[in-house]
This record gives sequence, C-alpha cells and structure tokens, in this order.
Amino acid sequence: MQYFKQLLADLKQHRPLLILALLCILVEALADLSVAAVLRTGVDAITGGSYQDLLAVGIWFTVITVVMTGVVFVRRLALGRFGEQAGAQMRQQAVEKLNRLPISYLEQHHSGDLISRLTNDVTLVREFLAGGLMPLIYFPLSAVGALIYLLIINWQLTAAVIVVTPVLAAAVTLISKPIHQASRQLQDSLGDINSQVQDSIAGSFEVKAFGIEVEREKKFQSFVKRSLQHGLKLGRQQSLMHAVSYLVGLTPFLICFGYGGYLAISGRLSIGSLFAFINLLNHVSNPLTALPHYIGQYHRAMAGYGRIQELLEIPEEPVGGVTDPADNDTALEFCGVSFGYGESELFKDLSFQIKKGEITALVGPSGSGKSTIFKLITGFYRPNSGTINIFGHEYAKWDPQQLRSRISLVTQDPFLFPTTIKENIAFGRLGADDDQIAAAAKAAAAHEFILQQPHGYDTVVGERGSRLSGGQKQRIAIARAFLKDAELLLLDEPTSALDMEAEHLVQQALERLMQDKTTLVIAHRLSTIKNADRILVIDQGRIVEAGTHEELLQLKGTYYRLYQTQLQQAG
Ligand SMILES: Nc1ncnc2c1ncn2[C@@H]1O[C@H](COP(=O)(O)OP(=O)(O)OP(=O)(O)O)[C@@H](O)[C@H]1O
Ligand SMILES: [Mg+2]
Repeated sequence: MQYFKQLLADLKQHRPLLILALLCILVEALADLSVAAVLRTGVDAITGGSYQDLLAVGIWFTVITVVMTGVVFVRRLALGRFGEQAGAQMRQQAVEKLNRLPISYLEQHHSGDLISRLTNDVTLVREFLAGGLMPLIYFPLSAVGALIYLLIINWQLTAAVIVVTPVLAAAVTLISKPIHQASRQLQDSLGDINSQVQDSIAGSFEVKAFGIEVEREKKFQSFVKRSLQHGLKLGRQQSLMHAVSYLVGLTPFLICFGYGGYLAISGRLSIGSLFAFINLLNHVSNPLTALPHYIGQYHRAMAGYGRIQELLEIPEEPVGGVTDPADNDTALEFCGVSFGYGESELFKDLSFQIKKGEITALVGPSGSGKSTIFKLITGFYRPNSGTINIFGHEYAKWDPQQLRSRISLVTQDPFLFPTTIKENIAFGRLGADDDQIAAAAKAAAAHEFILQQPHGYDTVVGERGSRLSGGQKQRIAIARAFLKDAELLLLDEPTSALDMEAEHLVQQALERLMQDKTTLVIAHRLSTIKNADRILVIDQGRIVEAGTHEELLQLKGTYYRLYQTQLQQAG
C-alpha cells in the first residue's frame, strides 16, 4: 500500500485523468444498480401485465445503455492515457537516473537487470494502471452499492447471504499475502535472465571462440529454471486464490436460491425483487471471484514499481561546488589515500604530488591499481580515507562536472557509440566543426584510415565500435582527447593496441598533445615513457620507486627488472 501511495504521489501531474476515470467508474456503478431496479420493475410489470410500466422500463434501459457506452469509452481512454503517461514518466526518470548513476554502482551491478527494470517492470506498472486499477476500484464500489440495495429489497435474505461473506473475504486476503513476495522473486529472476541474455550477445565472440556454448546454455537454463520455479510458485498461489474465490462467489447464490425461493413461493417477495436480488448478488459475488486476478496483478505491478524506486533512490553524486582551479603549481596531490573496492585494501596511505605541466608515468604490474588511480582522480570512486587535491582544491569541493571538463581521459578499452566516426570524435567537444574534427583526427594519426572507410567520417562504427580494429578505436579515442584539449590528460595505455609504426605516429601526436598540459600516462611498454619527467612505480598498493628513466635504471630495482625483461623480449 505504501508503494501505491507513493506511485499516486509520483503521478500527481496526471491526476485529472485519474479523477475523470473515477467519476466514470462511479457512474458505471450507479448505472449497474439502476439496471437491477429497472429489471425489478420490468419483471413485475410482465407478471402484473402492465404495458405502461413495460414501456417506461424500455425507455430507461435505452438511456442506461447510451450512458454506459459513453462512460465506458471515456473511462478506458482516460485510464489508458494515465497508464501511458505514467509509463513514459517512469521510463524518463529511470533513463535520466541511469545517466547519473555513479560509476561505482554501475560497475557493481549488471546492466541487464537495470534494463529489465526499465522495460519489464515499467510495463507491469503501466498495464496495471491502464487495466487492473479499474476493477480494484469498481468492484468494491459496486459491491457496497449492491449490498445497500439488497438490504432495501429484503434485509433478512441479505443477512442470510452476507453472513458468510466476511469469512470468505478474509480467506482471500490471507491467501493473497504471499503473492507479493513471489511476484518480487519472479521479477528479480527475470532481471537475471535479461543479464544472461545480454552477456551472451555481448560475449558472442568469446562464446564461439572458446566453444563454451553448452556451458552458457547450462548457465542460462539454471536461471530459466529458477525463474520457472518462481513463476510456478506464483501460479500455485494464484490458483489457490482463484479456487477459493469461486467458492466464495457461488455460496451466496446457493443461499439465495434456497431461502429467496422459499420467500417468493410463500408470497413475501415478488418475482421481480428476486430477479433484482440475483442480479445484484452478481455485483457482490463477481468481485470475490474476479478480484484475486486483479490483486495478483496489483502485487506484481507494485513489486515492479518497488524495483524502479530502488533504482531511483540510489544516491547521486553531489552537484555544485568550486568551478575554477586555484592559483598554484600543483596539479594533483594524493595525501595518505587508502582505497579498496571491497573488504581488502588496494592502496594504503598512498601519497604523491604532480606539478602542473609535468608528464608523469605510472608503471607497475597488471592489477597493481594504475587504472584505479585514474578512477579516483576522475572521482568515479572516493577514497576510504585521505584526500585528493586537484588543481589546488580537495576533490569533494569541486563541482564534479566542472572538474571533469578539465580532464581528458583515454581509457584502456575505449567505448565508441554506434554512430558515425565524426560524431564519436565530436563527443570530445560538442559543437566542434568538421575542420576541428579532422584536425584532431590528423593529430591522432587517424585521418588516413578514416578516409579509407566506406563513408569516410560518416562511416557508422557498429555497436561498441565493432567494425573497427582495436588500434583504430584507440586512435579515435585519442582524437577525442585532442578535441577536448583539457588541461589534465589521463592516458591509460593509449597505444597498447597499435603496431610499432602506428605507435610511433601516435606517440609523436601524443607528445604534441602533452605540450603545456599536465599528463599522467600509464604504459606497459616502457620504451614509450622514457621521456616522462617522472616515473612512479606502483606495486602492491604503494609507490615503490620514483624518478626519471635514468634514475630508476640506476636504482636497479623493480623498474630496472621490468625494463630488462622487456628489452630481452624485444631483442
Ligand atoms: N570495479 C571493480 N570492482 C572490484 N575490483 C576491481 C574493480 N576494478 C578493478 N578491480 C581490482 O582492483 C585491482 C586493480 O585494478 P586496476 O584496473 O586498477 O589495475 P591496473 O594496474 O590498471 O592493471 P592493468 O595493468 O592490467 O590494467 C585489480 O586487482 C582488480 O581486480
Ligand atoms: Mg589498467
């Protein structure tokens, strides 16, 4: 119920549609009752042989039919619109949220499940609002109205009929309780299936190359099985509820035929009243038989809404703060930074300083935390303790967007959007013109190969840039960085996917890019960082050596060993 209230509060702006629908439902309920009244008069007119009453009944029926037709049309239209608007609003909110979710959250959660919340769960809520909500309001309303009318017709018969109803209604409520939990489990398992499907598509190359189709299928089957189990459990609970509700629905008719028939035969109830009674009883018993279905739909929709809300409630990065660098020489400073993704710490008390305009290289074994340092600089993760100062301000004081506009990041595995090469480069600086884009591509040694593509700069690169080679993608990412022209450059192995020749070209380009900028570059191939002003060697969460290429070679420590190994491999 709490979720339902929250849902209605969220949809405040579409309330007129809901109010219109409620009015229609009220009219429908009244019209239903008047059908019983007309039926009563009609049957009595027939048994009494009054043509005049029969004519009046005919006119009334016509009026009710016309009114009902119009009202049902308007109600369906209003609720249909209400559902669509609500669906669109939730989707919009969820998509906006997705763009604002912290990287730390996205890296720990599967995108398939997030997509399932945006699609399956939103659909559940939309369908409930457009279809399932009406009976939940209409049935109780018309049942109460019918009950009052039944009391007016004959209170003894009504009392006999309804004495069983509360017991039956309580049974239905009790049985419906576990349905919410089962619905939630089903929705969660559908989210998991979505994640699996996405993995199989994204990893289709690996699946085939490693021949792990059967393993993937098995894994998929286990997820399908779990979802099937949840679905079956939900089905069992719903079946039980339906069965009980039939019992609940038919019992009053049994009593009505027995006791009502006796009253009619003994002349204490007219035939018309008995007809009306049976008709009205439908409005009491129908809800009891039909409601379980709609209660089930309600629970599934609320479980879905709960999953959407969970997504919307994830805390976002704070906005606002300092927008300009302080006037000092230090570009970047880590002071006693400790950090770990989970329980264990990756960095303990990490401290270093980088002056403006310096080129600093980060070197270290795979998994030592080099890329993580970039994630800390860009604020995708926050340190557990210690502080990071960038351009003279503590990270927490910066407006994150403003800060990131001053940083160009070329990641290890650059992502390209499935659009044109031109657009992919233009993300570096929105609004850049064709000449600026071409200049950036030339600087990144990408211009030549771009011109060789079927449509040049307008060639579409495919999902994640799948129609380009690794080195081509990397050069487009570098062109992006050129275009952005930010004062702090973070290069995470920018030339790792290039051959010697292309690497040489890009290396020259990068050196041009690094001029009068502060650069942090991660490199495995040590030959590419010989010219760095300073090299920081990272191992097991600490800086173990620092200095220029020559200084570090003289130390004959970790760097020396790494360098010797690479020389031997190359030679
Ligand atoms: N999102 C994450 N969640 C949990 N652990 C992570 C995450 N990203 C990285 N790690 C772990 O943190 C450690 C450091 O990873 P990082 O990517 O910083 O290494 P790296 O030095 O850049 O390695 P490489 O040279 O192979 O790129 C690794 O042990 C890795 O498993
Ligand atoms: Mg890395």
